[in-house]
Amino acid sequence: MQIEWRIAPRNEWRADALVFFVFEKSNEYLPGLRGFLEDVGKWLAVSAALPDFQGKPSEVAVVYAPACDAGVQRVILAGLGPAEKFEIEKLKNAAAFALRKCRDMGINKPGIPVSALEGFPCESSSCTIESLLREGLTGAMAGLHRFNAMKTKNSDVPQSTESILLVCDAEPGPVLRETAALAQAEVAGIVLARDLTISPANRVTPGFIAETASEIAAKYGFQIEIIDLDSARSMGMGVFDAVAKGSSEPAFVIVLDHAPPGTENDPPIVFIGKGITFDTGGISLKPRDKLEEMKQDMAGAASVLGAFEAIGRTGLVRRVAGILPCTENMPGGRAYKPGDVFRSYSGQTVEIISTDAEGRLVLCDALAYAADRFKPALMVDIATLTGASIIALGRDVAAVLGNCEGLVRSIQQIGASIGERFWPLPLWDSYFEALKSDVADMKNVGDRSAGAIIGAMFLKQFVPKEIPWAHLDIAGAAWTDKDTGFSPKGATGFGVRTLFEIARRWTGKD
Ligand code: BES
Ligand code: ZN
Ligand code: ZN
Repeated sequence: MQIEWRIAPRNEWRADALVFFVFEKSNEYLPGLRGFLEDVGKWLAVSAALPDFQGKPSEVAVVYAPACDAGVQRVILAGLGPAEKFEIEKLKNAAAFALRKCRDMGINKPGIPVSALEGFPCESSSCTIESLLREGLTGAMAGLHRFNAMKTKNSDVPQSTESILLVCDAEPGPVLRETAALAQAEVAGIVLARDLTISPANRVTPGFIAETASEIAAKYGFQIEIIDLDSARSMGMGVFDAVAKGSSEPAFVIVLDHAPPGTENDPPIVFIGKGITFDTGGISLKPRDKLEEMKQDMAGAASVLGAFEAIGRTGLVRRVAGILPCTENMPGGRAYKPGDVFRSYSGQTVEIISTDAEGRLVLCDALAYAADRFKPALMVDIATLTGASIIALGRDVAAVLGNCEGLVRSIQQIGASIGERFWPLPLWDSYFEALKSDVADMKNVGDRSAGAIIGAMFLKQFVPKEIPWAHLDIAGAAWTDKDTGFSPKGATGFGVRTLFEIARRWTGKD
């Protein structure tokens, strides 16, 4: 989708629709709407539609200009909820609902006045006009995303929105223009991640992810290496191989390296994404209820690819690498079994108790390989790792754990600034007790207690102590059963923006 700037004094604004935001039960409107009501929008000031509008979250009203008015044809009012409860997520969702309404009405170039984003009541330093513009645009564009690639009968699908007009009464300046480009880049990443995650597992196979990664690498000049299963095995990734054995779909470890000129020798930030394209549970077979949703088990890999799309589009000058261990987890005749023991890339041996705890298995070899190959400045893995993280934190919040408190806190703050919520869980050494094995260096699961922590504790064994590392468990946040505005039902693309922001902002001082 395009973004077009329209620069003109207010009395010359022309648009099929203009979006303004309204707080619930507020005594006064935000300055952008106030200004509009004073002159060009006098017709709206006297309309009963205005006091009728409550400003509740997800509330949208369309108010039509009198027929004689040639400039702005419609005003779309979008509710933000109470001002005292404002957080950046509310703006994303309000913008999404407003733009969807425009699309439903067939308006293909709706406008948002930049002044509609002024005067928001937030104290945080991240609440600048730039960040509000970025959130508003990201919400508007990501909220319009639909996955229709596999539908042949599209007659009831409303037409697409061509572009968003950013309406301004003065030249916006380079920072605002860059902000709009940034929002476009991250939405491209989110859309990619959502499409990959919502697509069925017979389409998005490990091979499909490898092809997608190759296309991105070719588009932006990233180095790429696609390691097939035979090579991964001979390199020592015995635990990744164990998971892949039960599937007849070829498995791959995909390695991306973005090393712009001058950064080739820098230790990179490495993102590692769980790429289980379908998780049956293997021999520890999952129950059939909602099993179709296990196509989402590659959401971590998808969010890493999404972050690379955004990195490529913005031309970030920093070395960032990505490792995506991709396979199905199937109960085939050659499948790994509970009780089996395998040797990992790190040399440590692992006893399999549950073949359904496969995510940590593919990640442990990827983490050890990343550490060995890249000597990273930072490693962040992202995975739909445990149902236990959903039990602990619900569906909208991801767990963050790691070997460095400052890093965990930074990720929490970065996430909060863009509306992705992370909550820390502890990783004390005593948790390792649960993973002690009688026959190998460790088991892959403990009992049912502290499941999200134990998953991370397992991964921690494969991360050299000197490398700052964080683990993001997005099992709840990768998927939504309800339309939030920003994210329609299905895959959310959660994590793309946090990874992209880590790549942009991490200073190494945590
Ligand atoms: N892919 C699942 C976790 C998951 C659950 C992702 C729900 C998305 C939504 C993972 O591989 C898994 O099965 N984990 C087990 C771990 C257990 C065997 C220790 C789980 O959560 O039950
Ligand atoms: Zn599993
Ligand atoms: Zn899984």
